[in-house]
Amino acid sequence: MQKKYSPIGIFDSGYGGLTIFKEIREKLPEYDMVYLGDNARNPYGARSFEVVYDYTLEAVKFLFSKGCHLIILACNTASAKALRNIQQLDLPKIDPGRRVLGVIRPSVEKVSEITKNGRIGVLGTVGTVNSESYPVELLKWSEGKVKNSVQEACPMWVPIVENNEINSPGAEYFIQKNIENIFRKDPLLDTLILGCTHYPLLIDQIRKFVPDQVYILEQGPIVADKLKVYLNRHPEMEVKLSKGRSVHFMTTESSKIFEEKAGLFLDNPIKAEHVQLL
Ligand code: DGL
Repeated sequence: MQKKYSPIGIFDSGYGGLTIFKEIREKLPEYDMVYLGDNARNPYGARSFEVVYDYTLEAVKFLFSKGCHLIILACNTASAKALRNIQQLDLPKIDPGRRVLGVIRPSVEKVSEITKNGRIGVLGTVGTVNSESYPVELLKWSEGKVKNSVQEACPMWVPIVENNEINSPGAEYFIQKNIENIFRKDPLLDTLILGCTHYPLLIDQIRKFVPDQVYILEQGPIVADKLKVYLNRHPEMEVKLSKGRSVHFMTTESSKIFEEKAGLFLDNPIKAEHVQLL
């Protein structure tokens, strides 16, 4: 008998989560997947805790209504501001058998394996930085390996990516400025977390200003690896997921705009569907 359609849901405020989707797709191609970008309301980066929580919860409920049992919040801002509440307050009421996972904990666990001197830098949106989620999680999950963490908000980086200004002198100016700032906060950092799913698209520019010996952590491959491990450890969830290899993209903005811009993040052209969450 054909298993009921239950895709892995991947949610982001917009396009950035496509960097996570791409890696998950590559490492776990057998599963059905749906991607939802709340492009009509992004960026989330500077929005309040309450608003990010409300928007993210709406997206989660919407993806559940599409058959998802497992959702990845492929957005640091949503993971920082909404995940804990959704896991602790909402899921038990909605359906304790479903799961919502974020991108911060896998990144923090990976950092703990990599760092040699325990000095970590986090680059993220204003929302992610102000939430203090990374410093808190680094202390909690690094088993004492992280000694010091510093953060730098990079509010111009998402607009640079979304406007395809990645290789412009303006991009270089802001990237250099933020990288210099974070190394001023701690010149001995040995690991830098790209704590926003848009930032991997700026990696070539970022590398120009980061000393060679510093490890730059991109989340896509790590989240995909950790998801694989999660599914191995949780067969009760794995059996619920359907394996039709399909992908469906949804956006709260115009599907045409999404299809055009997604090209920046993905190698192949895609089709998207416009949806309304409420
Ligand atoms: N992709 C989001 C993140 O990882 C940032 C984009 C936004 O501000 O909405 O934080």
